[in-house]
Amino acid sequence: MTSSLPAQDRPILSETAGSPRKRLYIRTWGCQMNVYDSGRMADVLAPLGYGPAETPEEADMVILNTCHIREKASEKVFSDLGRLRLLKQEKEAAGQRMVLAVAGCVAQAEGAEITARAPWVDLVLGPQTYHRLPEMVARASRAAGAQIETDFPVEQKFDHLPDAQGQQGPVAFLTIQEGCDKFCSFCVVPYTRGAEFSRPAAAIVAEARRMVARGAREIALLGQNVNAWHGEAPDGSTWGLARLIHALAEIDGLARIRYTTSHPRDMDDALIRAHGTVPQLMPFLHLPVQSGSDKMLQAMNRGHEAELFFRLADRLREARPDLALSSDFIVGHPGETAEDHAATMRLVEKVGFALAYSFKYSPRPGTPAADQPFQVAETVKDERLQELQALLRRQQDDFNRACVGRECDVLMTGAGRHPGQVAGRTPWLQPIHAIGPEGLAGQVVRVRITAAHPNSLSATLLDEKELACA
Ligand code: 5AD
Ligand code: SF4
Repeated sequence: MTSSLPAQDRPILSETAGSPRKRLYIRTWGCQMNVYDSGRMADVLAPLGYGPAETPEEADMVILNTCHIREKASEKVFSDLGRLRLLKQEKEAAGQRMVLAVAGCVAQAEGAEITARAPWVDLVLGPQTYHRLPEMVARASRAAGAQIETDFPVEQKFDHLPDAQGQQGPVAFLTIQEGCDKFCSFCVVPYTRGAEFSRPAAAIVAEARRMVARGAREIALLGQNVNAWHGEAPDGSTWGLARLIHALAEIDGLARIRYTTSHPRDMDDALIRAHGTVPQLMPFLHLPVQSGSDKMLQAMNRGHEAELFFRLADRLREARPDLALSSDFIVGHPGETAEDHAATMRLVEKVGFALAYSFKYSPRPGTPAADQPFQVAETVKDERLQELQALLRRQQDDFNRACVGRECDVLMTGAGRHPGQVAGRTPWLQPIHAIGPEGLAGQVVRVRITAAHPNSLSATLLDEKELACA
């Protein structure tokens, strides 16, 4: 399961010691795991003298860190590459050099096509080969022709990436698991990210400690199939995710723990119980179900029926009554009838979501669903998506409105959009802002929620003591 948080499209700014001699611009598409990977690529290149660039124009190296999960990703990459070709030519005419790299899942899936269609690309690297970047950059500086690295030695990637440097914002992302063996009919992840791999517990706890020492107060554990994590424990046994969360909860200064993205089949008893017993574990869970129809769940190879999802929702809310659920949905998977779609609508009505992402099915070449007969017409997909999104929007608005008047803890993350405002996140991942000093960033403060807007909340600060420390 991949995280479906909104796409990031911003430069990664990584702190480097001393003043950098060269500048690096990374454009990131897709999930939080790609954002994490971009940070690590910046870290791995820092010792080579690469510091952050704000724009491709001022960069000596540009990396496009791509996502292949849904439609048209590769066209967007190729159109970016077209623009960058001109920039590269301009720089070369001025006697400067620019290294151009394509990383991520499009690189993994379409490496050969990239070098054929865009021979001005210097490096093509799959998600498991970032630790080899320095060596590849050195080779690219010498050799003509693109370097391609898209093997799958995922263990090596984590063993060889250096520790992140510099300050860390209050919210950190930590990849604990990569890849997926579930082979849902529609999904490219098993082909682009490879087989499921869990990092050892000790490495994860050590990285989490370093993140907290550098300023993190919240850690989101990332993995395509994060709740399938089963890593080697310090005593040689194997831990599941619940046990890892208990270990992380012992880190002083770590106020909040989340994990994303989970598969319903891997929500085991211990993990459900952890939601009731670990106060740092936030009462918000992203648990994609994709469809409410048993027939579609089977066609999608999800390995469970809608009933399992209903039971999980009940049990999670029993363990943690204020737990809010989020999910992903696909409309118009091959073979989906009006009755199947109605079953999805019923599931949404019955469960109730605080947030959800919904997509029209888009065929991904090489996946089983892409070749199935009974593809659903685009107009039908559009109608179904609109109907589903209207319901999900209503539920999100209801959830946000129901928060008004409540008190809750907010992790402040920085300045708000308007002068004098400070912004943060509620336990339920809602963006929230209040009048208060920016210096509160990194603190968990008590607020009363005063208003709900379409995508955020307003609040007033309650905790005078925290204010005094700011
Ligand atoms: N078409 C539409 N949506 C997809 N997703 C994954 N593959 C496809 C596809 N081929 C959605 C799923 C997944 C989310 C990250 O992206 O809902 O949970
Ligand atoms: Fe998630 Fe299924 Fe894709 Fe695996 S194959 S990442 S479980 S959607």
